[in-house]
Amino acid sequence: MNKTFYITTPIYYPSAKPHMGHAYSSIVADFFARFKSIDDYQVHFLTGTDEHGLKIQRSAEKVGQEPQIFCDQISQTFRELSDTLNLSNTDFIRTTEARHKKTVQHLWSILEKNDDIYLSNYSGWYSVSDEAFYNEEEIEEIDGKKIAISSKSPVEWIEEESYFFRLSKWQKPLLEYYKANPDFISPESRKNEVISFVKGGLKDLSVSRKSFSWGIPVPDNKNHIIYVWLDALTNYLSALNYPNIKDDLFRKYWPATIHLIGKDILRFHAVYWPAFLLAAKIDLPKKVYGHGWILSGDEKMSKSKGNILDPLEIIKEYGLDPLRYYLIKEVSFGNDGNISQDRLEDCINSDLANNYGNLCQRVTAFTIKNCDGKIPSEIKFIDDDFRILNKYKDNLDKIRSKIDNQNINFYIDYIVNSLFEANKYFNDQEPWKRKDDKIRLNTIVYTTLEIVRKVSFLLYPIMPESALKALKIFDINENQIKLNTIDNNEYLVKGNDINKIDILFKKIEKNND
Ligand code: MSP
Repeated sequence: MNKTFYITTPIYYPSAKPHMGHAYSSIVADFFARFKSIDDYQVHFLTGTDEHGLKIQRSAEKVGQEPQIFCDQISQTFRELSDTLNLSNTDFIRTTEARHKKTVQHLWSILEKNDDIYLSNYSGWYSVSDEAFYNEEEIEEIDGKKIAISSKSPVEWIEEESYFFRLSKWQKPLLEYYKANPDFISPESRKNEVISFVKGGLKDLSVSRKSFSWGIPVPDNKNHIIYVWLDALTNYLSALNYPNIKDDLFRKYWPATIHLIGKDILRFHAVYWPAFLLAAKIDLPKKVYGHGWILSGDEKMSKSKGNILDPLEIIKEYGLDPLRYYLIKEVSFGNDGNISQDRLEDCINSDLANNYGNLCQRVTAFTIKNCDGKIPSEIKFIDDDFRILNKYKDNLDKIRSKIDNQNINFYIDYIVNSLFEANKYFNDQEPWKRKDDKIRLNTIVYTTLEIVRKVSFLLYPIMPESALKALKIFDINENQIKLNTIDNNEYLVKGNDINKIDILFKKIEKNND
């Protein structure tokens, strides 16, 4: 086993409790991580919290707490959310940890040594909510208030001594890099946005602040703290124990396979981060994928807009797996998506209860009644069976390559169609009418059970708990889920007892008034 996969989520600001947008990034990252782990990759999956900067300092001040104590509490709620979402993350990093500070200061020293950092004065617009600098063209005035056009967050004027990173110097190398690595920024539409931004010219970037103290000090000038984005982005390296490049984690997992982020923070990941890395002569991540937003009404969910959907409430009402399934299926990946309770209920009723749940229940009940509750031994496949069974074998490499291109929608459509076909197969073959042809009856049962196994393997990255519940029919446990066994049509152990399982998904009574 030597294939490796390193995936990261953004590290979240612990300025308020987590919302559906955060849950979305994490769930999608978990989907990829689990898919790769059942495809025999060694997976490193990193998430965490981004705890420095003025935004956090002010949030702490507002409730009269020391920033560290404030962060300890809210970071804990993000950690708990990772558990509640059943994430398979292998690490959770906090930027206030010593391991991270060490790496950030080291990276700073390299940049300084390479003459990519110099001291000067900054004056310009700053949004504390975005922790971002904006130039005149990027702001507008509404009702006498200056706001950033892209995020609609208020901006304030700052003027202070600051260290600068020579971003302008990296304009050309960045453009060359994008050209030579066409997959580096995804999806395509966002890549074009980034390229035109970079082509428009890059100004040197202010990378330190002097007027507040909640951050990592600049190594040789304690009056300055390091800009929160330079600090935060470095988490992807500090979690691998960089600069200890002989460390197993770093050797195995850097460069990262994919940084999964929301489109709002693409510029930081696709312009600043690669520029820092180029300047420090560190390999660049293979891909930055900027997904769309979960909208509430027509707007991005955010604390300041007061339109937040709480993932915990949805999970309490409908369960975790339906939410994971819904977010992965109903949001066309890469685009914005609306979350609607009505659509979520439809998904549970039609896809989960009727399609998947029903197939599992039907075939197990039939096996118990007609095959003595055992996986049939005497079977003989005919073309009708091969047609439905071989679909997996024939498509496995296609599925893998679609996933490598983040085509989640292909994946989910493939599953939904497979379930639909499997139910149709069972109906059309009418095993209940084959009681005088035991081998045929057995083969239909075997084939359907085999499809339940295959589809459950594919559903595992989306709904781990439900897929594992279904696989209890065959006593298959998590470690036995291997994608490369999916093309095996005789994987089930003939003659073994099957287990009856509880209803997987309860139908929702819909009020259609
Ligand atoms: N701390 C920075 C990220 C640093 S990464 C080195 C940050 N944090 S955040 O908490 O504001 O948001 C992080 C991410 O949460 C967004 O990039 C996005 O992935 C996700 N989402 C936040 N709101 C969202 C929606 N409404 N919809 C979908 N995802 C969004 O930015």
